Amino acid sequence: MQEIAVTGGTGFFGAHLCRALLRAGYGVRCLTRSGEAPAGARRVAGDLDDADALHELLCGASIAIHLAAATRGGSPARFSEVNLAGTHRVIDAAVKARCVRFLYVSTDLAALACDPYGQSKRDAEDLVADSDLTWTILRFPALYGPSLMTRNCAVESLAEKVRSGRVFVPGNGRQRLSFLHTEDACEAVLRTLTCDETQRKCLFVGPQAVELDEAVRALAGGAGVRCRIVHVPWSVARATVRTALGAFRALPLNVSMFLTIDQDKVLDGTPFERLVGWRPTPTVDGLHRFAATLEAEARTYRRGA
Ligand SMILES: NC(=O)c1ccc[n+]([C@@H]2O[C@H](COP(=O)([O-])OP(=O)(O)OC[C@H]3O[C@@H](n4cnc5c(N)ncnc54)[C@H](OP(=O)(O)O)[C@@H]3O)[C@@H](O)[C@H]2O)c1
Repeated sequence: MQEIAVTGGTGFFGAHLCRALLRAGYGVRCLTRSGEAPAGARRVAGDLDDADALHELLCGASIAIHLAAATRGGSPARFSEVNLAGTHRVIDAAVKARCVRFLYVSTDLAALACDPYGQSKRDAEDLVADSDLTWTILRFPALYGPSLMTRNCAVESLAEKVRSGRVFVPGNGRQRLSFLHTEDACEAVLRTLTCDETQRKCLFVGPQAVELDEAVRALAGGAGVRCRIVHVPWSVARATVRTALGAFRALPLNVSMFLTIDQDKVLDGTPFERLVGWRPTPTVDGLHRFAATLEAEARTYRRGA
């Protein structure tokens, strides 16, 4: 059985991925700071700054998948320490352990690199690409799917706003974004591991982008609610975010996405699709189904309460 070492297995996406890897027949070991590793995975206790823990994690694993990252609410120094220096240490440990494959999960925000999170992920990508490992970098857009651990996704928060009947959207709502379901993201990783043509490539993985208003309408349609979209001029929206982060709860998506959302993040997923022979769920269909599932769960909960 091939052993895969995973960092970030306790996070929103990592929990899905560990389950998918185990289902596919891989042995999985996870670096875990506190709490349990996902069921079926071996726990290796430690932090990204713990060289001994990284050695234990990677020794004997033929594949490394590096997901662990500071993803929200950090200072630039924190993003750099965890995402850049942490990646450096994981690469070192993977080289010493002679891993034959190294997969780095990155973000479309790395392409823009216009906030500390995106910049730190971009710098980490450069480290991976300069290493002697047989690497692949997958850039995901915003992920959505059920929460398996304690964390949920930004899209779930947006869906909640939509269910409340009113959503504030920065700009004119015509900015284009891609959203990827966690099941599709897991399938993308599995296909990458068995597709040699993805080696030494940085690839965007995501369905064709849709306008933000269309995404909101898909969530409203799935939830079976009417939702009023209120367009907020960029100047007002930015000032609101910068001066009163407390008011941010009224705005969709997280700070990084919010501040970069006007840059028309149309990224092309077709090179990845061609290499691995597979396509992700179209954004509108996926968001519609996701919102319908959330609404059904909320109805069951309300009946039980
Ligand atoms: N979610 C998205 O929409 C999205 C989109 C594009 C790309 N990505 C990328 O996908 C990856 C996973 O994202 P996610 O949403 O699952 O993030 P998440 O829910 O915030 O989870 C982050 C994971 O990293 C671990 N971690 C953070 N700092 C660590 C440290 N110093 N040492 C060891 N482990 C540490 C966390 O461990 P603890 O459980 O101990 O905190 C957790 O397992 C990230 O690399 C992110 O950049 C995510």
